[in-house]
Amino acid sequence: MALDKHWNFIRIPKTKNTTLTTWNAADEHVIQCVSEKETLHQTTAIFHDRFGYLSCFLADQNPDIVIYLKSQQTAISKNLALNKININPNFITPFVHSVEKKWEVVILHIPKSLDLFDLYLQIIFRFSDSNVVVYCAFMTRHFTKSMLKMAEFYFTDVKQSLTFKKSRILTLCGKKENIAEKNLIRTIFYNKTYLQYSGVFSKNQIDFATRFLLENVVVEKHEKKILDWGCGNGIIGIFLNEKYPDTEVYYVDDNLLATESVHLNSREARVFWEYDINNISGPTFDLIVSNPPFHFEHENDISISLDFFEKSFHYLTNKGRLIVVANKHINYLTHLKNIFPISEILAQNSKFAIYQCRFTRPC
Ligand SMILES: C[S@@+](CC[C@H](N)C(=O)[O-])C[C@H]1O[C@@H](n2cnc3c(N)ncnc32)[C@H](O)[C@@H]1O
Repeated sequence: MALDKHWNFIRIPKTKNTTLTTWNAADEHVIQCVSEKETLHQTTAIFHDRFGYLSCFLADQNPDIVIYLKSQQTAISKNLALNKININPNFITPFVHSVEKKWEVVILHIPKSLDLFDLYLQIIFRFSDSNVVVYCAFMTRHFTKSMLKMAEFYFTDVKQSLTFKKSRILTLCGKKENIAEKNLIRTIFYNKTYLQYSGVFSKNQIDFATRFLLENVVVEKHEKKILDWGCGNGIIGIFLNEKYPDTEVYYVDDNLLATESVHLNSREARVFWEYDINNISGPTFDLIVSNPPFHFEHENDISISLDFFEKSFHYLTNKGRLIVVANKHINYLTHLKNIFPISEILAQNSKFAIYQCRFTRPC
């Protein structure tokens, strides 16, 4: 663990916002904290390492790296290579059934979604040694009492560190016994129940923007092949497919918890765990529909959506349509007009706008 080495990290997906970083003080803090302990020979797991900072620093410990985003897996691999760390990373996902050796040390960057934090704690609970010590890093401004409550559900001893560069560490030990497994999350929309794993967008109720989209979109007769990009639990694609049964819907999301949720809701769905539309080889679509992300964790960033708009251009048939719903204040129309010959507002209310883009006007 060379704290003084010069490290390089890149972001995947790329961003145009140069103020966004690849790690923060909470990551530095947790690395400092474990470097003071004798953890090198202990079985280690890392959770929520977004771009690979923790994985690079702890590579000597040959850790299990728990990932849930495809872009996270790619970023960590690229950053290990960029820093000339020649290990074959032990990536595992939240759906892992077993680990080679129970974890004695866990390093975790607390995610914005506390449901995801809870899911991580469930996984740690399942695969850790009884003497495990869990170091959870967070920026002080993101602290909520629920973090403590969640940690105390699984561990008897939960301590908070002093502040370092506006970050803190929660140290958890004293693993409790016989904790019950949690249930899946349910959302009901138009009499259908959608299931999802923790850590998937919009818990227990349909997102207002998504609802506005689904109440206003009419699939045109020739639109048979549809892509639901950034599908979450699949609610957009599944709803449209049930309303227009002769359509064939494809689903894409960067989040494995999301793509696996789609499988819970539609057995025959064609689902891709991907962050870059260019990596889905082959199909072109008559309709691409999306409620795209405009923030990641605590950061606001529309780069991912803009990249998707630019690339979607190449995956539409000649008569194809891109439909996007978003908060009005983001004003995607200016960006879409630079990409598509026809970009217009299909519907709007006081909060949301639905944009429609085409190559030519239908006859
Ligand atoms: C606003 S949510 C919409 C989810 C779902 N369509 C709905 O309406 O409930 C945006 C989704 O985009 C996904 N996402 C973020 N970045 C992505 C990327 N690069 N590629 C694919 N999906 C992405 C997120 O995981 C999230 O599920």
